[in-house]
Amino acid sequence: MLTRAQAEERLKALRAEIEYHNYRYYVLDDPVIPDAEFDRLMQELLALEAAWPDLVTPDSPSQRVGAAPAKEFREVQHRLPMLSLNNAFTDEDVIAFDRRVREGLGRLDAAVEYAAEPKFDGLAVALHYEHGRLVQGATRGDGYAGEDVTANLRTVRSIPLRLPEGEAPAWLEVRGEVLMLKRDFQRLNEEARASGGKVFANPRNAAAGSLRQLDPAITARRRLTFFAYGIGQVEGTGLPPTHAGVMDWLARLHFPVAAERRLVKGVDGLLAYYRELGARRHVLPYEIDGAVYKVNNLADQERLGFVARAPRFAVAHKYPAEEAVTVVEAIEVNVGRTGALTPVARLKPVFVGGVTVSNATLHNQDEIDRKDVRVGDSVIVRRAGDVIPEIVGVVLERRPSPPPPRFDILQHYPVCPVCGSRVVREPGEAVTRCTGGLYCPAQRKQALLHFASRRAMDIEGLGEKLVDQLVDRGLVETPADLYRLDLPTLAGLERMAEKSAGNLLAAIDKSRETTLARFIYALGIPNVGEATARDLAQHFGSLDALLGADVERLQQVPEVGPVVARSIRDFLDEPHNRQVIEALRAAGVHWREAAGKGSTPGPLSGKTFVLTGTLPHLSRDQAKEMIEAAGGRVSGSVSKKTDYVVVGAEPGSKYDRALELKIPLLDEEGLLRLLGDESDTG
Ligand code: IVH
Repeated sequence: MLTRAQAEERLKALRAEIEYHNYRYYVLDDPVIPDAEFDRLMQELLALEAAWPDLVTPDSPSQRVGAAPAKEFREVQHRLPMLSLNNAFTDEDVIAFDRRVREGLGRLDAAVEYAAEPKFDGLAVALHYEHGRLVQGATRGDGYAGEDVTANLRTVRSIPLRLPEGEAPAWLEVRGEVLMLKRDFQRLNEEARASGGKVFANPRNAAAGSLRQLDPAITARRRLTFFAYGIGQVEGTGLPPTHAGVMDWLARLHFPVAAERRLVKGVDGLLAYYRELGARRHVLPYEIDGAVYKVNNLADQERLGFVARAPRFAVAHKYPAEEAVTVVEAIEVNVGRTGALTPVARLKPVFVGGVTVSNATLHNQDEIDRKDVRVGDSVIVRRAGDVIPEIVGVVLERRPSPPPPRFDILQHYPVCPVCGSRVVREPGEAVTRCTGGLYCPAQRKQALLHFASRRAMDIEGLGEKLVDQLVDRGLVETPADLYRLDLPTLAGLERMAEKSAGNLLAAIDKSRETTLARFIYALGIPNVGEATARDLAQHFGSLDALLGADVERLQQVPEVGPVVARSIRDFLDEPHNRQVIEALRAAGVHWREAAGKGSTPGPLSGKTFVLTGTLPHLSRDQAKEMIEAAGGRVSGSVSKKTDYVVVGAEPGSKYDRALELKIPLLDEEGLLRLLGDESDTG
């Protein structure tokens, strides 16, 4: 057990050490000990403070987790008012600022030295240090009086609670900006979305909302950051003669200062700095809304003084705003290559992030619902850098009355705006889809490539470049048109010699004879892969039986659940697709009709296998082929209907699932034995 004096001494040493490592980690981004060691020091501190509660001090690092909530903020009068900066928006504004400075200093011909730094987009605070201890922190408020947010500010890890021994003046007021780093903001919003909490529009609002609320524990969890940009009053020490010198001094006192600050000469230096910082704006870890230029020499600053509420010696040169408010004039949809309908807000054109924006994607119905964007709403549009403009949120206060109805894609677009086919949204899916897969011009190229692919109709030589040409020249609209192509037409295409045109024609002709399974797969029905196509072929035995099957019948097929059944039915119910299917049959596409369930018997027929992990000798494709050749089927997921799971090295979650459902397991040898045995006995 320590004596009180020993405890006091140890606490002092611990606090200094923890504060130092805190500084290395949060201010310099350069920790010197592992996290675990830091945790150990913190544990020791907490244990000692628990044993000696009356030795706990407000500047102890233990207080960073947040004190008890307050009832209200006390008001703090600023000793020196916290003024604001005049803004410059154009190069001309900056040129005029520099001229006024030179006139004011009576040195019209000499280039002035400026300290240039980022304009942080957060909120201003003043921190008071008495003999090196943080005693008070306040918001700017109206510039003359702010709110006492000391308890909250103590939780901000980059704010020193104690200044390094021997360096601190008797009294010091440091001014700077509290902000939230972009990554912390994203994390906060992701968590809020997941838990249904408050989502903030931008890091500035998140920082303000986190600092100006009464529970310090909440502030602690929100991860705020601080950057110093100047000082208020000092007592007990002289100051360096320049702003840059003051900033260096603050850095030595362990305050975080922007790494992006520079000394520049004259107006050319200012404008060059503005452009360089602007180019890096989007890779900085925090948001900025401009650059701040300050006359570097403090005596010159004093001579220039203030007009009204802003200094003559400094100016804020703003970047184009990245957010603006505008009105949603309409919500329309784009149809993509896969048939997905993507809603797009048509906006009253607005200048934001340096360009005029008139569209913003709304992604899907869920996104529309989440943001509750309606036609006629005023919305906040954001365009940061080269990022695609997005709608951050609705300004509910400006929603027209009576309120416009909620926007429902299906209600506005019951049919595809491109091809007129029916539009559906399967339960549980985010996307709204056009069902005109084979017919819809928006999906044409994708549908053709899939139709011709090796595992579908296997038309060798019909690749992307050819499909592009065929579609772009209007030669092919649906897969059925492929069978009408002739040699002169094909030979007339780019990079098509007579010989390759002949080969392609032969490949197309050859594809006329296929299997029902391949044909079904080639149709590109959403959610119908090869295995399902094969099941459907085997189960129904003929195309007409499939075309006539209702959702219940479809669900009798192994592995076909309600979603897949619905998606097959939607596709087949679309008259445009039926026309294409008939046109394909008329073009001579045919197959040997499989004669119905269980009638292509193999030793493994009726058995469903799932493969997981790497087998010692067989590749996955080989194993699959052998199983299928013996009449079995291979499925991608384990269910109660699975008969065997074949397990190789490093199996995935399918193995766990198999154990869970108690499905018989086979290794490669077991599979081969099964294949051998069954084929022996037939
Ligand atoms: S200096 C006399 N430097 O901008 C004014 N301010 O309109 C001293 N700000 O409320 C302010 N970054 O919150 C200064 N590098 C910077 C700044 C900065 C952001 C904010 C500050 C102030 C506002 C001025």
